[in-house]
Amino acid sequence: MMRFDSMFDPATYHETRKPLLRAQTLPSHCYTSPEFFRREVEAIFSSAWHFVGREDEIRETGAYTVIDVQAGSVIVCRDRSGGLQAFVNACRHRGTRLKDGQGRCNRLVCPYHAWTYGLDGSLSATPGFGEPENFNRSEFALQGVRLENWGGFLFVNFSAQAPPLLEWIGDMPAVFAAHHPEDLRCTWRKEYLVRANWKFLIENALEAYHTGTVHGETLGTQDSEFVETRGNWDALYVLGDPSKSIATLPGENQVFPFVRGLSGKASRGTWFTVVYPGTQIVFSQDCAWWLDMKPLSVDRTLVTLGGCFPASTVAMAGFEQQVTAFYERWSTATPEDNQIAEAQQRGHASGLGLPGRYSGTEHCVHALDNWVLDQVLD
Ligand code: FES
Ligand SMILES: [Fe+2]
Repeated sequence: MMRFDSMFDPATYHETRKPLLRAQTLPSHCYTSPEFFRREVEAIFSSAWHFVGREDEIRETGAYTVIDVQAGSVIVCRDRSGGLQAFVNACRHRGTRLKDGQGRCNRLVCPYHAWTYGLDGSLSATPGFGEPENFNRSEFALQGVRLENWGGFLFVNFSAQAPPLLEWIGDMPAVFAAHHPEDLRCTWRKEYLVRANWKFLIENALEAYHTGTVHGETLGTQDSEFVETRGNWDALYVLGDPSKSIATLPGENQVFPFVRGLSGKASRGTWFTVVYPGTQIVFSQDCAWWLDMKPLSVDRTLVTLGGCFPASTVAMAGFEQQVTAFYERWSTATPEDNQIAEAQQRGHASGLGLPGRYSGTEHCVHALDNWVLDQVLD
């Protein structure tokens, strides 16, 4: 293992900093060292925009979803006025976790001593608590967390200093305006616990070099090109077929109407984006999906996958049957990707592996690795 005093020295990464076709991949310890991971948590995840899900998944009054990140746990819920709220998932009495997973409730009741909060976070009841001196309920509302929304994609942030979400993602909303993300509805979601570093998973999602091998029997080969972006995001464009999106398996004929008004490249292909650090939103001609990586430790990651379609498609007769072709593609390819990331993690088990090189098609992998270095080095 690398000596600690050179792990964050820019000179250590000289070879990864070179232009793509001369660069070496990140040293092995970036994926295996608890010290390196701790620095990522401090420098990246403590102030990151953490992906929550779609606004339309939390549509009804009292619907909530919980996400757990390194910085803490957050409840996002729909309040009585139709707005969205985000709170630290901890009681203001003695800090007990309030909720898990997803569900619907009229109020948030702590399982310990039943302190009760409204959907706006206000403390409404403290059964059996008596009247301690100077106790004022209004001072014990749930602690708010920043929640921001782009086109129905929700993100939370624990840091008051982080820039607004729309500043973070730069020109991404403009690039995908024609895909009308605000019209999407999430109809499907799945979680995987993967024994691999978060970077292996997101790197894999940003190159099509592996598709002919890892997905040789399923997706087959794909051609891709790099996209210029402005802001903390990148994208790989995968060339497709003007009559069918790549969101179903080859040989599957199911198609949904394309998003109205798509033209040029948007009508022929699919963008595999990354919102740094670890959220991929994929825009295809007839649907969108996400793949979100939440690191649990240096070698464990929670991967969440969600499938979205335009509201007009979801309303079509027969949607429920026809959409299974899309779910099948996502639930086939994702485990193949997860397994290869686990094999890669095992290949790096010693932390002493020598660096490799990037191909011309691994532009986004190189960009991601250098973005991480930009954040964590001294
Ligand atoms: S810790 Fe929540 S009511 Fe006591
Ligand atoms: Fe893949």
